[in-house]
This record gives sequence, C-alpha cells and structure tokens, in this order.
Amino acid sequence: MSDQPHSVTAQLLYFTPPKDGSKPYTNVNADPTTGSRRSNWEPEPHTVEIENLRGKEDSVTLDTAGFLFGRATAAHKAFTNDAAIEAEYYPESIELVKKITGASRAVVFDHTIRRRRPGEFDDSPQKRQPVPAVHVDQTTASSIARVHRHLPPEDAPKLLERRFQIINLWRPISHAAYDWPLALCDFRTVDPQGDLVPTDLLYPDRKGETNSVKFSPNHRWKYLRGMEPDEFVLIKCFDSKSEDGTAILTPHTAFPDPSTPEGSPLRESIELRLLVFYE
Ligand code: OGA
Ligand code: FE
Repeated sequence: MSDQPHSVTAQLLYFTPPKDGSKPYTNVNADPTTGSRRSNWEPEPHTVEIENLRGKEDSVTLDTAGFLFGRATAAHKAFTNDAAIEAEYYPESIELVKKITGASRAVVFDHTIRRRRPGEFDDSPQKRQPVPAVHVDQTTASSIARVHRHLPPEDAPKLLERRFQIINLWRPISHAAYDWPLALCDFRTVDPQGDLVPTDLLYPDRKGETNSVKFSPNHRWKYLRGMEPDEFVLIKCFDSKSEDGTAILTPHTAFPDPSTPEGSPLRESIELRLLVFYE
C-alpha cells in the first residue's frame, strides 16, 4: 500500500445556472457528432483534491458521508447480456444491499454499463461512458416519482409513509478501475439548500429530474483508488430521513486520475439503481 497516493489533484466539472434564469435541462443522449449532451447550462471546471480512502475504507458510511465501500464477489461475471444481468445479478445485488442496510425490501429499477471509449461520441444507452460532471441522480420529486413508477399502486402510498432511499450499487467490471474512477463528495460538506439545482433530464419519451451541483470550496472529495471487480461502492442518491444530520445524498462524478498507471485498461463498470425500503 506504500505506493498508494494519499490524495490526488484533478479537475472536476461543476454546474453553473443558465444566465437567463430558465430551468436547466440536459438531454440524456449526447449529440453523436460532438459527444456533448445538449443543455442550456455551462460546465465550470474546478481543480480539487481527492482523498484516496484505500486502507481507510471504513471511514465513510451511508448515513455519515452518504456512501460506503465494501467487498463482495459477484456470482455473475459476464455482464454482456441485459436479460442475464437481470436474472442473475439483480437478485444477488438485492440480497447484498438488504444485508448491508438492514432494509426490508429493495427493488432494482435500472442498470447502466459504462465502458470508456476515448474519441467516441456515441453515448446511446448501449454505449454509455463515464460521466464527467458532478451530479446527484435524483431530486426529492423524482425519487418519489420512482416509487410510483416501479411499485404496485396498492403498495406505493404505504411505502412512502416510511423511510425509503435510492441507492446505487457501483462496481468495476473485468479489471480494476484505475482509469477514470468515481469521486464522491462527503455529504457533511454539502449544503443541500445552496449547492443543488434541480435539472430536467430529457429522455426521448419522458422527462426525469436530477440535481446539478454548484461549486463550493467546502466540498471534500474522496475515492477508492484501483477498485477491483470484487469491490463495490454504495452511493446514496436520496433518503427520506432528513433529520439528525443523516446523509441524504452524495454528489459524484468520474474524473481523470493523474495517478493512473500507464497502460491501465479503460474503465468498465456497472451501476444498479435500487429503491430501498424499511419496515
Ligand atoms: C452513477 C454514476 C458515473 C460513472 O453510478 O450514478 O453517475 O462514471 N456513474 O460511473
Ligand atoms: Fe450518478
């Protein structure tokens, strides 16, 4: 571990609001000729220090920082076929998340496989790449909408009366993710009122809502360098329990790590998104 950097310095892309005061939007699919996602807002680069938690994995938890690192080998390893992922990887992941969180019910509502392809601009659903922009996947409104969308109408009202969360289960595929790893912002350094801006996410057939993140010098960034396929990170995107300083979300982004060993294979990862309920 002695060759592990304690921290690295990298440039992250933050959000700046549209000048005309209109609600920000981002198109979910990038323009295939330019690679950029059409939007009405400008990214703003900021150079930050990102602490490497290798050897200190236990210093963060879902309810303090908003994320948690763990180790568990997945029985499913291929990640080449969506039907097989749903049949094999979803159930083992549900059990893993329930075991770690103590939740009574967990429902996977989608997954994304990302493979970095330098110079390739097509970011259509089967060709997703790492996301180089600080964001939170959901807002409060879109989290509640997910419960209505993915659970039976007879269950949703009761489930919404109790604590629920949206948690992503992210892990590398095939090889360690030294290339374009994921940085996570400690919730204790986020001002949920001041730093977050609800942003429409335009799908071809519907509209979702994510939180974009404005820069703050208070933000403290962390990552786990060289995550292996048998390691994972749980990323809390929403929690209905907002008292007691409980972490309710985690801004995150992929970033170019200056300490990536030369010749490292390009990043490949899968993230599952889960609705997580407590009796
Ligand atoms: C996520 C996410 C980006 C990436 O898992 O929610 O934003 O580059 N991932 O893996
Ligand atoms: Fe995300």
